[in-house]
Amino acid sequence: MFTRTGLFFEIMKVIKTKREIRQAVQKLRADGRKTALVPTMGALHEGHVSLIKIAKELTDDVIVSIFVNPTQFAPGEDFEKYPRPIEQDIELCRNEGVSVVFTPSREEMYRGTSYISFDVKELGSHLCGRSRPGHFNGVLQIVNKLFNNVPADVAVFGQKDIQQFRILETMADEFDHDIEIVMSETIRAEDGLALSSRNRYLSPEERQKAPMLNEALLSITQKAASDATPTAIVTEQSQKLESNGLKVDYLQIVDYNTLQPVQSLQNGKKYIAAGAIYLGNTRLIDNRIFQI
Ligand code: PAF
Repeated sequence: MFTRTGLFFEIMKVIKTKREIRQAVQKLRADGRKTALVPTMGALHEGHVSLIKIAKELTDDVIVSIFVNPTQFAPGEDFEKYPRPIEQDIELCRNEGVSVVFTPSREEMYRGTSYISFDVKELGSHLCGRSRPGHFNGVLQIVNKLFNNVPADVAVFGQKDIQQFRILETMADEFDHDIEIVMSETIRAEDGLALSSRNRYLSPEERQKAPMLNEALLSITQKAASDATPTAIVTEQSQKLESNGLKVDYLQIVDYNTLQPVQSLQNGKKYIAAGAIYLGNTRLIDNRIFQI
């Protein structure tokens, strides 16, 4: 913290190399500072701000990484077109009191041909993983690198991408990453719609219908305690969404740990009700974690 003309301000560093970020974070930790990593692909919005805020509450210094990771885009997905408003992103980080922004180049993160790959196995076989083969393997590849190069105490990820969250939590556990994985709860509009950068693509009529996904997920969690089977509960809600003009990509109840659909629900176990719908061309996802 420095003072100038009586005002407090912090000088935010922008770092582009793995060596420098590692040294910077090691130095912060050696100085007794608790650090948090918030991994992003940039184009920062309110969702990211909420991750940064949680990270700030938990630690002294927040490091935001901004890297559009090519290995998590399938062929035909919009890697080239993905927005990269880097100056705006850096400004947002500065305004949010971030200590370090890590913006490596593609060459810095990937040296060339990769001879070893990740495999999320069945954790990627349902929910979003079904329609995006290879996506989560790419996420693991980059986040593993980030964890190795940004040795922070804590890493914060959003609940909204629950499958990603669970897969990364599992990697950290299985690969003995010395980092605490923290979930940031989904931020919602007043009518319950989960905030997302994609909401801006909705027409006024689609926007009005969009909260129905959250309503369906809430109904699922409420009906879960009844005698109905998970399949019956989910089918009923799917039909309701479809009859209101929402195209259901998936609506499922899965086990929190295995991310596999379940045939029955047991007391005390943790489950996720998750869904993805299309409104026009816009795909929205949401989920609720519950127990009965
Ligand atoms: O959630 C994202 O933005 C990305 O998947 C992540 C975790 C930054 C990895 O590229």
